[in-house]
Amino acid sequence: MKTVFITGTSSGIGKATTKLFASQGWHVIATMRKPENETELNQLENVTLLPLDVNDYEQINETVKSVTEKYDIDVVFNNAGYSLMGPLEGFTDEQIVQQIQTNLFGVVRITKAFIPYFRAKKRGLFLSTGSLAGLVAFPLGSMYDASKFAINGFNESLAYELAQFNIGVKLILPGLTATDLLDKSPYVTYPGYEGLSDWFEKAFVIENATKSTDIAEVVYEAATDGSSKLRYLCGADTMHVTGQIKEIGVEAFIENMHKSLKDTHNS
Ligand SMILES: NC(=O)c1ccc[n+]([C@@H]2O[C@H](COP(=O)([O-])OP(=O)(O)OC[C@H]3O[C@@H](n4cnc5c(N)ncnc54)[C@H](OP(=O)(O)O)[C@@H]3O)[C@@H](O)[C@H]2O)c1
Repeated sequence: MKTVFITGTSSGIGKATTKLFASQGWHVIATMRKPENETELNQLENVTLLPLDVNDYEQINETVKSVTEKYDIDVVFNNAGYSLMGPLEGFTDEQIVQQIQTNLFGVVRITKAFIPYFRAKKRGLFLSTGSLAGLVAFPLGSMYDASKFAINGFNESLAYELAQFNIGVKLILPGLTATDLLDKSPYVTYPGYEGLSDWFEKAFVIENATKSTDIAEVVYEAATDGSSKLRYLCGADTMHVTGQIKEIGVEAFIENMHKSLKDTHNS
């Protein structure tokens, strides 16, 4: 039985991925901040629930030590994250640091903790949930987009570094996905940015988004296709935006975005 270790499985993409892998006969080590509140995944036979806050460096190291001693892990899926949205001016310093801490350093620390284990096994695979917002930035997402751009570069570099040890590195890049993300994440408003906030609320309507189960299918493909492909684009919006950028170039895409935002300017 193959084993996957996943972060952020209490909802959304992490939960859907846990269910899919378990249904395909994998053992899933499903980690979340509060497993004591979980009512669904703890009913599944081949799922092991463990507590893990990706901001807790000590807990990361203890958890990785204990699971690597106990289980034969094939894939690590760095998925936990949230989206701080709003104008940069409105963020507190703590919010700014926390966003990078969770979305970037969480991935970095978990990956670093597992590398010696995969090296000793002479095989392994890291998957991380990046985002379309790690390929192209959107208004009011400065810190979230910064974290996802960073994950992109981090994984791309690491893919070269770890290939010699037969350790794969892959990125899952969803566009807007119907999960608890926006409900669970801080949304900040600030005087002077009302027009952009209205635009944001109209642009990011979760009801029109890709289903988390569709993203889970892509994660499963990435885990099992045996390829060394780095980026897995998912969702119609991701395909549309990346297609447009390919066609007209990134500068023209940005120019068009500015034009479409002109009416949102307050002054
Ligand atoms: N939804 C989208 O449109 C979208 C698009 C592109 C990429 N993504 C990415 O997909 C990933 C999963 O998000 P989702 O959309 O499935 O949203 P979600 O339903 O809110 O799930 C996010 C998960 O991350 C967990 N998490 C947050 N902070 C954590 C921490 N410090 N330690 C451990 N777990 C933590 C949450 O746990 P709690 O229940 O404890 O908060 C939850 O399990 C994120 O990296 C997100 O950036 C989402």
